[in-house]
Amino acid sequence: MQSKNRYQVYNQSCAEGMREHVKDNSIDLIFTDPPYGIDGDGLDVHYHRDESKVVSGYIDVPLSQYAKFSQDWITECARVLRPGGSLYIVSGYSNLHHILNALHATDLEEINHIIAKYSFGVSTKNKFVSSHYHVLFWAKPSKGALKRTFNSNYKYTDQKDSYHDRLSVQDMPRAHNPGQTKNKNQLNEDFIEKFVMYSSNRGDTVLDCFGGGLTTGRTALRWGRNFIGFELNKNAYDAFVPTLDTVEEQPDPIPVSPNAKELAKREKMREGWRKDRAKKKLSAPNDSPADTIKMANPDLIEFDQ
Ligand SMILES: C[S@@+](CC[C@H](N)C(=O)[O-])C[C@H]1O[C@@H](n2cnc3c(N)ncnc32)[C@H](O)[C@@H]1O
Repeated sequence: MQSKNRYQVYNQSCAEGMREHVKDNSIDLIFTDPPYGIDGDGLDVHYHRDESKVVSGYIDVPLSQYAKFSQDWITECARVLRPGGSLYIVSGYSNLHHILNALHATDLEEINHIIAKYSFGVSTKNKFVSSHYHVLFWAKPSKGALKRTFNSNYKYTDQKDSYHDRLSVQDMPRAHNPGQTKNKNQLNEDFIEKFVMYSSNRGDTVLDCFGGGLTTGRTALRWGRNFIGFELNKNAYDAFVPTLDTVEEQPDPIPVSPNAKELAKREKMREGWRKDRAKKKLSAPNDSPADTIKMANPDLIEFDQ
């Protein structure tokens, strides 16, 4: 186990490790990218990748064990998340059903099903080219003051500006670190950053069950979060734990404001919509279907694009 004040990483299977080291209701955010159960160690032949900088020993899970494996670690995630804590799981489509089954067996609730679109799919002849991952966003129901964190305004002062940043179809850039040692299937840290920033605060604890190149760990530490990670492959553990000490913590980003002219334009449009709605309400005093939906889903905000 490597432990500095702000991180702890264990060279251990994550379900067992969480049972041993992580307390109930103690984690604010889990961002994780499990092995896909599709012989991940043998895919490179299709991708024509230069594997000389990739750490050997990547551990995948046999398909016959994938359902039980998913149930095991996802049950632990549900236990360790605090009420209102968030969980993001990156998954391919082949074994997505096992992950969804495991999630549905917990008391977690689904928040979003995000599609991460990439442009490095393997070329195919007789079918469409796979070019997306699923990012499953679930959370433990809030309890009392322990609410779910979602910083809609971490980047832009006006929520309208983050609309496009928060679409449920996201671009997934390729991890591109020429010359650097990497994990197989290593994610791009800019991609992870978005989820860390929206779903946690400085000082929170972020956990990654399948650390790999410790991309989640570096991202969490960069933005002032604490980190707990697990990685079963000793080669990856030895190669990437030292990189956590190289992270330079960054100050909170300053949210960007639209200029005065743009704000005035929006306020004029919004005023128009408010008037339209008031007019409609007068002509049809019963609640519209849209009002009924909004009352049942207080998280929904006006669609004013
Ligand atoms: C898809 S990769 C994660 C990649 C990581 N997100 C990154 O950006 O580098 C999955 C990782 O889980 C590790 N792994 C497999 N089974 C595990 C287990 N039971 N516990 C912990 N790690 C495991 C694999 O060795 C692999 O490094």
